[in-house]
Amino acid sequence: MSNSEHNDWTRTGFSTRAIHAGQDPDPTTGAVVPPIHQVSTYKQDGVGGLRGGYEYSRSANPTRTALEEALAAAESGGLDPAQGFAFASGLAAEDTLLRAVLRPGDHVIVPDDAYGGTYRLIARVFGPWGIAHTPVDLSDVEAVRAAVRPETRVLWVETPTNPLLGISDVAALAGVARDAGALLVVDNTFATPYLQQPLALGADVVVHSTTKYIGGHSDVVGGALVVAAGAVLPGGLESPAGGTDVAGAVGFHQNSSGAVAGPFDAWLTLRGLKTLAVRMDRHQANAAAVAAFLVDHPAVTEVLYPGLASHPGHDVAARQMTGFGGMVSFRAGSEAKALDVCARTQVFTLAESLGGVESLVEHPGRMTHGSVAGTSLEVPDDLVRLSVGIEDVEDLVADLGQALA
Ligand SMILES: Cc1ncc(COP(=O)(O)O)c(C=O)c1O
Repeated sequence: MSNSEHNDWTRTGFSTRAIHAGQDPDPTTGAVVPPIHQVSTYKQDGVGGLRGGYEYSRSANPTRTALEEALAAAESGGLDPAQGFAFASGLAAEDTLLRAVLRPGDHVIVPDDAYGGTYRLIARVFGPWGIAHTPVDLSDVEAVRAAVRPETRVLWVETPTNPLLGISDVAALAGVARDAGALLVVDNTFATPYLQQPLALGADVVVHSTTKYIGGHSDVVGGALVVAAGAVLPGGLESPAGGTDVAGAVGFHQNSSGAVAGPFDAWLTLRGLKTLAVRMDRHQANAAAVAAFLVDHPAVTEVLYPGLASHPGHDVAARQMTGFGGMVSFRAGSEAKALDVCARTQVFTLAESLGGVESLVEHPGRMTHGSVAGTSLEVPDDLVRLSVGIEDVEDLVADLGQALA
């Protein structure tokens, strides 16, 4: 199934790909936006006579196909076309990927600072099914190499990390994964494909919570996987559908488990993707100004933003990203002070999630990362995380100023 007559979008610029790949005008009406195909099943022209390959909307739906092609093109500029898969949430995407590439007895290296839900999935859902894991500081490439076991099948990377904005060197970690015979999986949610292209740096699979910057308007939950052309299952694994390619195994599991993006959710996400570049430019300009304001503020003990020259991952981020993104975290000195700031902002809304046009503030220790309390991934209790939106930056700085006063 393909929605696109133009088969070489990977050679065009980022926004051209995001706006056009998989989204040719509708052949019947000329509609320039892919319709919402709110349908579960498709008329067959005789048994097995499928029109365009569509049979049943768990297996494939044209609106979802458009999103999957656009996401794949967004992540594979200049490369052989990757394959995209859209899911009902970021965690559904992660769950499907891990089931497709792991078997009991396998081992996964995870960041010691990852989104709490990812860690909960790997440790508490996959653990009882016989998957071992080791949390490692991924900014230390030698520590990652030392954590590799004969049964390591996945090296899971998140950069920048949620919520501490840690940076790891994707190209160096791709070397470690290659030597270990493991897949390199990169959660690109914070950076987005506009600012970071993990497949070009050697990743096998990119993961997204499209709920965040790609959707961009806090109105849809979704997830995606983008699998590099030629990625092969680790450890000599064969897919239940036959074959050893990761994309084939993911496609089989997406259909077999069925946690797919619905047509309206796919359409909203596709709409968000088209404006990703212009939104990210504003997000990161505002984030840089907010970070600079916080650095100088006496009530703030530390600012975590990869765009600051003082950030330990600044040089790597400057090399592998085209910008530093819209997330800023800071430490307020005590949990009480952090909770106080969260309670006092007025333009920054106290809420979980991130990446929408509106600015959000949260306390990771008690909110998004509550599930990792008591583990090695526990976050400092004086940490405040900001998702810096695209409002007028003077209003954002003034709001933080009054909340910290
Ligand atoms: C970095 C990262 N990855 C994955 C997820 C999970 O995505 P979802 O909430 O869409 O299931 C999140 C959610 O916050 C996230 O921040």
